[in-house]
Amino acid sequence: MSLFDAHFTSALHDRETAGTRRTLRPVTRDVQTILRDNRRMIDVSSNDYLGLADHPLLKERASDWALRFGTGARASRLVSGTLEIHQAVEQKMARFKGYEATLLFASGWQANASVVPALCALSTARTGHPMLVFSDRLNHASLHHGCAAAGVRQHRFRHNDLAHLETLLKREATEPGLRMIVTESVFSMDGDRADIPALRALADRYDAFLYVDEAHATGVLGAHGHGLSGGLADLTMGTCSKALGGMGAYIAGSRPLCDYLLNHASGFIYSTALPPAVLGAIDAALDIIPTMDRERQTLLGHAGHLRTVLNAAGLSTAESSTQIVPVLIGESQRALDVARALENEGFLTVAIRPPTVPQGTARLRLALHAGLTDSQITQLGEAVTRLASEQTL
Ligand SMILES: Cc1ncc(COP(=O)(O)O)c(C=O)c1O
Repeated sequence: MSLFDAHFTSALHDRETAGTRRTLRPVTRDVQTILRDNRRMIDVSSNDYLGLADHPLLKERASDWALRFGTGARASRLVSGTLEIHQAVEQKMARFKGYEATLLFASGWQANASVVPALCALSTARTGHPMLVFSDRLNHASLHHGCAAAGVRQHRFRHNDLAHLETLLKREATEPGLRMIVTESVFSMDGDRADIPALRALADRYDAFLYVDEAHATGVLGAHGHGLSGGLADLTMGTCSKALGGMGAYIAGSRPLCDYLLNHASGFIYSTALPPAVLGAIDAALDIIPTMDRERQTLLGHAGHLRTVLNAAGLSTAESSTQIVPVLIGESQRALDVARALENEGFLTVAIRPPTVPQGTARLRLALHAGLTDSQITQLGEAVTRLASEQTL
């Protein structure tokens, strides 16, 4: 019993009533299979878009580096946790992303949540005025958290609405302080893309720093999976936990940017360095990803085919143009029901509900991977069409 248990229980009850209570439901995985409740499922819920989490080369290098260097880094990077392999992986990542330098973080959440405040502090320190942050409304929770931690009020523009962004930039044009535009390149819950060249042009026009989260683009989009923002964003952040099949994250940018963050980003300074096994997996992923054009083509082909089938049946997949295909359902309980019904047909998916997505837009988030077959995509399209249409009647 804890002192606050009655409060916790009542807060959970509120979520239950609203159909938004979250619970943990374990799955069992071995190399090729995912099981839930002892039933074999086709996974369309996770972010291992290229299937690298099971790739022999990643597993081999992860275990090799653990055997050679140990299971833990033993200290934070600035103390004695920086091994040569950290720097080698950072250099390899910088070449992959097309930037001068990168800095590794323990996770994408940690990177965004601590890098945004570090950048905001720069404005206060250099100009005496808070950073003006212009954020896409659908940015990931970690980016919002970073702004909240920095204590800045965000100027939030309507999702992917660059005319609205320009209105806000214009409105604040004479305000003192540095300014920064923050967006994702592929939006995690919608699967649509930001127009990065147009954002670059706006950033140039209004003297703003461009911060792009490439969590869902890296490995999948852009030439050889390099993502969409190389050479265009001032800062690109990405995770190693999705298409790279591992864990951890990176910030890519100029050398002065990375050196500044090494001095000011608390999530980097006060956290233990990534362990060797994780570095081994990232290192191997960086070797393989550029060679996976065929898999990327298959993956995007699957997504296009699925959208065509769902849209023809009158279901909305929002503006998705990537491997993430949302199916908009609306009400939370209905989305849960469809997800459960799909599970009964052997497809593991999840209902995404508010507050992760805006009220009234609960959805299935179908996250495809390159290992799916044409016939599995056809079955999935047929099952979603039938079940989502039944549930929305
Ligand atoms: C857009 C975006 N940014 C950041 C993150 C956080 O990354 P990580 O899972 O590595 O903490 C996620 C993961 O859900 C994401 O979707």
